[in-house]
Amino acid sequence: MTSTPTTAVPIPASHSAACPFGPPPAYTEAAGAGPLTRAELPGGESCWLATGYAEVRTVLSDRRFSADVRHPNFPLLVPGVRKLITENPTFLRLDDPEHARLRRMVTGDFLVKRVEAMRPAVQRIVDEALDRMTEGRTEADLVPDFALPVPSLVICLLLGVPYEDREFFQGVSRTLLNNTSTPEQLSAAQDEMLDYLSELAARKREQPEDDILSRLAARDDLTPRDAAGTGILLLIAGHETTANMISLSTALLLDRPEQAARLADPAAVPGAVEELLRHLTIVHTGLPRVALEDVELGGTTVRAGEGVIAMISTANRDGTVFGGSGPGQVDELDLDRDARRHMAFGFGVHQCLDQPLARAELQIALATLFRRLPGLRPAGPPGTAAFRTDSFIYGMRSLPVTW
Ligand code: HEM
Repeated sequence: MTSTPTTAVPIPASHSAACPFGPPPAYTEAAGAGPLTRAELPGGESCWLATGYAEVRTVLSDRRFSADVRHPNFPLLVPGVRKLITENPTFLRLDDPEHARLRRMVTGDFLVKRVEAMRPAVQRIVDEALDRMTEGRTEADLVPDFALPVPSLVICLLLGVPYEDREFFQGVSRTLLNNTSTPEQLSAAQDEMLDYLSELAARKREQPEDDILSRLAARDDLTPRDAAGTGILLLIAGHETTANMISLSTALLLDRPEQAARLADPAAVPGAVEELLRHLTIVHTGLPRVALEDVELGGTTVRAGEGVIAMISTANRDGTVFGGSGPGQVDELDLDRDARRHMAFGFGVHQCLDQPLARAELQIALATLFRRLPGLRPAGPPGTAAFRTDSFIYGMRSLPVTW
């Protein structure tokens, strides 16, 4: 059966000021109407929007859906960038075998065992960031003073990028992730980042160190451009995602002190972080794919060549999977919920490479923050905190706090 709902949901849709921690209401309404509906992309093209858990899982794991951005119908979330974005795709936007070949080169660095060994270093980075934030002060903006430096320092350490260059790469990352950037701004930012990392990789080829970029640069089967491309993906994903999860989780927990108290129990922390990941699902614009064949999905036929946005934020609030005792319970934050089946890190072959490290950072950062600053609370009048709404990654621009 083929059915085509008439109303198209705009991607990206706006968040609700009254409910800033939830997905945009347009996505929630679409999910309420059925697991598959139509969406309108910023360039005016239309595609499918999968909102149900089962349908999103299929889109992300069935090889008949492609993540190759070079497909002429691949749904683009920024208009006018098709040429730019298809020139140097990272493995995030390629299919196997190319995707697997490039991903394999860095998987060893993100294995659970390796990440577990990094926990003491992450704890030190978190403690030092808190020392700096609190020294001689009783107020700070949690975003630049804690949420951003922690993951930024961790990924710099792993990748071998000098942290002193943070103003440069944090600024360029923001432009690349901003869904209102013009094609010209994106092109300039991409070139700057590629030049920066190619130059660094060339230096590391001469004088290798114990870091990912040195290992990539030393490979003969990888062009310097490919090495830099993988470096960009890791550098951008490495600080923007985790930073926004830390700031958004903190803002939410400050609003729900009875839930924040659960972090005092070390045994509850890993589960609490999974529930925060589920509840906040910061990749709010969804994950784009294109069908390579006709596929039955949610009672509808998605035709070969049609684009689909897999909306992980609504899938993670699907009551049939995460629902509890009553209506709307799935929309509540419940740090004791078993949220392990969430798809905040995606699903299938493109599932987040760095989940173990992101989890470790979130567990250590949030537990330490609330343990060391038990009086932590928002500073300034209500509404002072600013949400980041113009990025593929939802989060906070600013979160003034006191303790
Ligand atoms: C809380 C933090 C994070 C969240 C919520 C997150 C989320 C995601 C999601 C949803 C995807 C799938 C994209 C798709 O299928 O189209 C993904 C992929 C990816 N993430 Fe993360 N991420 C986080 C942290 C990180 C960090 C810290 C790094 C890096 C160092 C990283 C590196 C990557 C890479 C390389 C991919 C592409 C994997 C592939 O295509 O095979 N992520 N992430």
